[in-house]
Amino acid sequence: MRRKIIAGNWKMNPGAADFKNLCQDICSQLESEEPNCEVLICPPFPYIVSMLETAKGSALQIGAQNAYFEQKGAYTGEVSPQMLSDLSVNYVILGHSERRKYFGETDAFLRLKVDAALEVGLPVIFCCGESLEERESDSQAEVVGKQLRKALFHLSEESFAKVVIAYEPVWAIGTGKTASPQQAQEMHEFIRTLLSKNVSQKTAEACRILYGGSMKPANAAELLSQKDVDGGLIGGASLKANDFLAIVKTAG
Ligand code: 13P
Repeated sequence: MRRKIIAGNWKMNPGAADFKNLCQDICSQLESEEPNCEVLICPPFPYIVSMLETAKGSALQIGAQNAYFEQKGAYTGEVSPQMLSDLSVNYVILGHSERRKYFGETDAFLRLKVDAALEVGLPVIFCCGESLEERESDSQAEVVGKQLRKALFHLSEESFAKVVIAYEPVWAIGTGKTASPQQAQEMHEFIRTLLSKNVSQKTAEACRILYGGSMKPANAAELLSQKDVDGGLIGGASLKANDFLAIVKTAG
C-alpha cells in the first residue's frame, strides 16, 4: 500500500510572516488530527529554515523547490543538495515545468540534478508533463516517457526508493483547468507501466506518483481516488490553510 503525499509548492510567493502563520496553522491541524498521508510544504529558499523550526516535532515535512547538480564550489546564486540535506530538508522538487520553461532546464541537466540529490540521500519529487500543444496532438505519452527515460531510468531500484514522480500537465498548472480524473489515471498508469519495464516491478508498485495542476478541495477527492494517483503537488491551493488542509483530509 503506497502512502499518499500531499505536497504544497509555494513557488516564488513572498510573505515570510504570512507563511509562518500558514505553517503554524497546518502544524496545529496536523497535531489535532494526525493524517494518514505524508504532508509537505516547499517554501522559497529564504523561508526554509524558519519553516523547519516552526514544523519541528510536527508531522509536517519541509521541502525545497530546486537544487543544483554540484555539491559545492564557485556557482554564484546556487544551492546544493548537500546544503539542503545538512538542514534536514525532507524532499527537493526537480524538473518543475516552470524551471524547464523559464530556466531552460533540459532532461540531461535534470538527470545530473537527480543524481546529485540522491548522492546525498535527499529524496526527489521529479516533475514531468506535457504542454497544451503536445496534449492536443496526442503526444503526451511520448513526451512524458522521454522525460522519464532521460532523467530517471538510469537509476537503480535502490535509488528509485527515494524518488517520487509528479505528473503535472503544463496546461493545467495555474490555469484552473484540471486534468479529468480519467486523464490523470491514464497517464499515471502509463508511468507505472514504464517503471515496471524500465526499472522493476517492485519499483512500479512502490513508487508514488502525484498529480499536479489546479488541484483544489472541489476536485481533490475524485483525483485522489484514482487507483494510480498517490497524492498531489499543489500550487495555488497550498497558499490557503483551509484549502490545503481540506485536500490533506481528503487524502486520508
Ligand atoms: P497549481 O496548483 O497552482 O495549478 O500549481 C500546480 C503546480 O505547479 C505545483 O507544482
